Amino acid sequence: MPLSDDVILGENVRIFHPDLVNMYGCEIGDETTIGPFIEIQRGVKVGSRCKLASHSFFCDGVTIEDNVFVGHGVMFINDLMPRATNPDGSLQTGDDWELVRTRIKNGASIGSNATILGGVTVGENALVGAGAVVVSDVPDNAIAVGVPAKVIGDIRDR
Ligand SMILES: CC(C)(COP(=O)(O)OP(=O)(O)OC[C@H]1O[C@@H](n2cnc3c(N)ncnc32)[C@H](O)[C@@H]1OP(=O)(O)O)[C@@H](O)C(=O)NCCC(=O)NCCS
Repeated sequence: MPLSDDVILGENVRIFHPDLVNMYGCEIGDETTIGPFIEIQRGVKVGSRCKLASHSFFCDGVTIEDNVFVGHGVMFINDLMPRATNPDGSLQTGDDWELVRTRIKNGASIGSNATILGGVTVGENALVGAGAVVVSDVPDNAIAVGVPAKVIGDIRDR
């Protein structure tokens, strides 16, 4: 089922193509809009008045505060050392790896095709450029671009 029964939706959430998303066990705040081809996993919390553009992936451990823009094809990460199997050859389960958490703070924007490594916080009103790989915290109001992402300015000067 693309939109699972256990998803908690706030008021006036708009999912433009409910048949083209994969959402389960997550919580979405009031007035947030969700584009097609998005996966939002169990445990993700998205705030109010956010815009989530198409083709993005939100894994367990991700918290998106209010008024956040997430561009197209943004990838979140919650396992910094992924392995398919344990040393004994058995398939890994949820107990075999450490989940790292990520927070995108109020009013921040994440450009298209950015990758957000687990364990980072993107600050309030910060702007992450298209294609950036964010490996460390981005301060409030900072503009950060590149691989790895570096601060190149302050949004209040633009
Ligand atoms: C980062 C961004 C906001 C521009 O910020 P800015 O402060 O106005 O930056 P400028 O355009 O003045 O460029 C400053 C420098 O950063 C570089 N730069 C700009 N955007 C970049 C990016 N995404 N990745 C890497 N470098 C980038 C420029 O080439 C320039 O480099 P230089 O000083 O060596 O010439 C913009 O380029 C961007 O990526 N916006 C995201 C757009 C997006 O993904 N929208 C999603 C929905 S459509």
